[in-house]
Amino acid sequence: MSIHIGAKPGEIAETVLMPGDPLRAKWAAETFLEDVKCVNEVRGMLGFTGTWRGNRVTVHGSGMGMPSLSIYANELIRDYGAKTLIRIGSCGAMQRHIVLRNLVIAMTASSVSTPSTGIFRELNFAPSADWGLLRAAVDAAEARGLVPHVGGIYSADVFYDERPDLNEMMTRHGILGVEMEAAELYNLAARHDIRALALLTVSDHLLTHEALPSEDRERSFGEMVEIALAAAFP
Ligand code: ADE
Repeated sequence: MSIHIGAKPGEIAETVLMPGDPLRAKWAAETFLEDVKCVNEVRGMLGFTGTWRGNRVTVHGSGMGMPSLSIYANELIRDYGAKTLIRIGSCGAMQRHIVLRNLVIAMTASSVSTPSTGIFRELNFAPSADWGLLRAAVDAAEARGLVPHVGGIYSADVFYDERPDLNEMMTRHGILGVEMEAAELYNLAARHDIRALALLTVSDHLLTHEALPSEDRERSFGEMVEIALAAAFP
């Protein structure tokens, strides 16, 4: 057991998919994995381990925001030996050519601050995805007839943003979408020499103000889980 994860030693796989929502973790594990076992329920942050095509995989919630993700990712890496963390989440689109349900793959993640800001201090570290995972995810998406948007995203500290000028600046600098976790995931992966990737389906649009109803998100979420699994085990 770690402080926030109740799994016994050996119950977490080296490859972990991380949705923000713990109920999405349950749905993904029950839908795509075999021999599924619930390995964490502490504070309702559910984690499940099973197999996909014979490969052991854990699906574990991250919660919302970088401080929450940092707790779970740190413990998965340091206490359970996770070697590959793939975020499967949603984002708000920041470019006109991106539409609802599109897949965004985060090559880099800009931020105003992350839980690592106090560690990096004056260093403007550039958090980036694992290249091998990124390439495998693009291949897996294209094999399914999808054309993913690959590029920089923005990991915000707040969902209800009072700085429209900041969002506008991100759009002008070609940032594809906004979410709240990837930058710290990539920081932690670099620090602990593991692989990380963030796959995001577009759930809302900052320029058109459209948003997907929550029931509509399931299909694109399912495709993203399949792409994450195919990227982890090409
Ligand atoms: N995740 C999904 N949509 C988002 C948005 N508009 N802002 C921050 N995080 C998000």
